Amino acid sequence: MNFELTIAQTSEIEADIEIVIIIDNNTKHRFVQDKKLLKKAGFLAEQDETCLLVGKNVLYVGAESLLSKHIRTAAASAIKALMGTTYKSIKVSTYTNNGCSYTLRAMVEGFILGAYTFESYKSKKNENKISHIAISLDEYSNIDLGIEKASIEVHKAQIIADATNFTRDIVNTTPDDCYPNVMASIAEGIAENTGLKCKVLKPKQLKKEKMETLLAVARASRHKPRVIHLTHKPKGAKVTVTLVGKGLTYDSGGLSLKPADFMVTMKSDKSGGSAVIGIMKAVAEMDLPIEVHGFVGAVENMIGGDAYKPDDVLVAKNGKTIEIRNTDAEGRLVLADVLSYAQQEVKADYLFDFATLTGASVVAVGHYTSSVMGHNKEVQNLVVNAAHASGELATALDFNPYLKKTIKSEIADVCNISNTRYGGAITAGQFLSEFIDKKHTNKWAHIDIAGPAFVEHTWGENPHGASGAGVRMMVKLLENLSR
Ligand code: BES
Ligand code: ZN
Ligand code: ZN
Repeated sequence: MNFELTIAQTSEIEADIEIVIIIDNNTKHRFVQDKKLLKKAGFLAEQDETCLLVGKNVLYVGAESLLSKHIRTAAASAIKALMGTTYKSIKVSTYTNNGCSYTLRAMVEGFILGAYTFESYKSKKNENKISHIAISLDEYSNIDLGIEKASIEVHKAQIIADATNFTRDIVNTTPDDCYPNVMASIAEGIAENTGLKCKVLKPKQLKKEKMETLLAVARASRHKPRVIHLTHKPKGAKVTVTLVGKGLTYDSGGLSLKPADFMVTMKSDKSGGSAVIGIMKAVAEMDLPIEVHGFVGAVENMIGGDAYKPDDVLVAKNGKTIEIRNTDAEGRLVLADVLSYAQQEVKADYLFDFATLTGASVVAVGHYTSSVMGHNKEVQNLVVNAAHASGELATALDFNPYLKKTIKSEIADVCNISNTRYGGAITAGQFLSEFIDKKHTNKWAHIDIAGPAFVEHTWGENPHGASGAGVRMMVKLLENLSR
């Protein structure tokens, strides 16, 4: 899908169809030329509601306001409504909230994210491909945005949305096609294309690095684990950020086997790692003037005679001993070692980890929201605010000393599960906190993306399946830190 920005009036542009966004039901606006027809069609112009007037070659879509979040999902709904048609080219005007070009970015993101489909496993692919979108700088409130400023936003939107779709593709790929070594190859491919540095640790090196908890989780799988380290290091960077992702290419639960219904969708347990790869791609393409490191623990959690067991005690890379009481709480074990490794390799100003860590996060905050934990409220707020500004949903969950006690072990330093069924997202976060050095305590936030990473229906600009959760929020945060 390519975008063309033009100062020409929308009416002067040649295109198969025009998209008109009706803001806050204002059908009196000059952009709305078919008021009577829309009324006849019973169109209420509610948020994301679409009405295609075939004879007029116009698709109307409703948006509650000019806020980015409303424009983004409206654009996504509009493009989705056109996906089954034969239209190839689209024209659209510009909508901004008082001249804030960020709304333009949101509209372009909405088009790219909304048009996403995953058809790798379909014999018959969808024929329709909308290939061209012309955006007229004719602005909703007659604000002159300037073509330079506008084209920067369009370009950024393309990078961010493409990176999100890239992450979606990795997550949607089946566990038989995407296992740890494949994730490593994907990272290497990105590095080759963008100039990022990429280091991949194989079992021998993982053993040398004493990443025994990660190796234990990986042991029963025929697919050997990998730890991936991508680096973006521009000259003169003043801020360093480390990202760590859970890349469980499949989570069967291990010997504490998941019930059948809960195992389905566990190809999505690599969402955190996939987000880290997508973020690194965007960071490189935007050439952000900060140093960013992306670490991924790519592992498959399976069963077999060689599997790690409930009752085992493992020694993590940082020397702490862990009593295993449930092999399905494997993500935290992988992250324990990768977090330790990442902190050994890089002294960062900020440390963020992304993981589909707990079903409890989904119970707590629902399917659409990530939960953000850590010891530092300011760092948590950076994440939550960046998420909202980017079109993602996130909310902070607070640690407390009472829940902390529930992961105590009688025989080891810490237990891999809590002794209570409640507050599971928080106790998992507090488990991870055992593997954060003193130096990084106040620089760290843990982002549990178990809810939004993979949802089996469409929502907003997100499709059925992988959403690419984490990518947009973190790119926004990194952009903010670059200023
Ligand atoms: N990958 C799962 C968490 C998960 C569940 C992600 C649902 C996405 C959707 C994780 O490894 C897991 O199994 N966690 C257990 C922890 C429990 C054993 C303490 C869970 O959430 O049930
Ligand atoms: Zn699990
Ligand atoms: Zn898992």
